[in-house]
Amino acid sequence: MSAPDRAALWRVMEARRDHRHFRPDPVPPELLARVLDAFRVAPSVGLSQPWQVTVIRDPARRAQVHASFVQVRAQERLSFSGERRALYDTLKLEGILDAPLGLLVSLDPPDGPTLGTGGLSGMLEASVACAVTLAWLAATAEGLGLGWLSLVDGQDLRERLDLPPGRPLAYLCLGWPALSLDAPLLEKSGWARRRPLRVYDTDVTP
Ligand SMILES: Cc1cc2nc3c(=O)[nH]c(=O)nc-3n(C[C@H](O)[C@H](O)[C@H](O)COP(=O)(O)O)c2cc1C
Repeated sequence: MSAPDRAALWRVMEARRDHRHFRPDPVPPELLARVLDAFRVAPSVGLSQPWQVTVIRDPARRAQVHASFVQVRAQERLSFSGERRALYDTLKLEGILDAPLGLLVSLDPPDGPTLGTGGLSGMLEASVACAVTLAWLAATAEGLGLGWLSLVDGQDLRERLDLPPGRPLAYLCLGWPALSLDAPLLEKSGWARRRPLRVYDTDVTP
């Protein structure tokens, strides 16, 4: 790869953010198609491609997702106490009603055994996460904002939205970002900080 290509790749990786604030403008279908095309090139264990994507546009259906989020958030806040809970209550953790598109990404495992799943656990879920990450980068390169929402109940969602089989792993809010973010929102709100990579190099004796 050329130096400008490498620089462009790094610009996209550094610019990628988890967005939770969106403008209401629609996303042109060709842009959505390019974001979804990332799933075509994504790695997956045994080339299993164990994902399925449901596009959710209808505001009434997005309101159902939001209702599920409200329940899960109310439950999660109880795992924090004192000042931490007070800070949790101030966090914006989704953009479901603002983002014109929701992409529900579900784990849709292949029938029968999958090459590569006989060792480490969680490889099908990891494959879905790999694909979502590529879609996240593709969205960033298009100037779109994407936010990964995990604070929903998969079973509840399936019942509310009458979804095809598959275990929801991500609800992606997709649209035009309303905020320009140079750092993670959770960092800006004082919840957490990025930390240096811990590398253990077994060839280097301390
Ligand atoms: C698996 C996964 C689940 C996530 N779920 C949520 C979520 O439910 N709500 C939320 O606000 N952010 C969620 N995020 C986004 C993270 O909070 C975000 O990636 C992190 O704070 C770093 O910020 P950045 O993505 O802008 O670099 C999730 C991210 C990942 C990878």
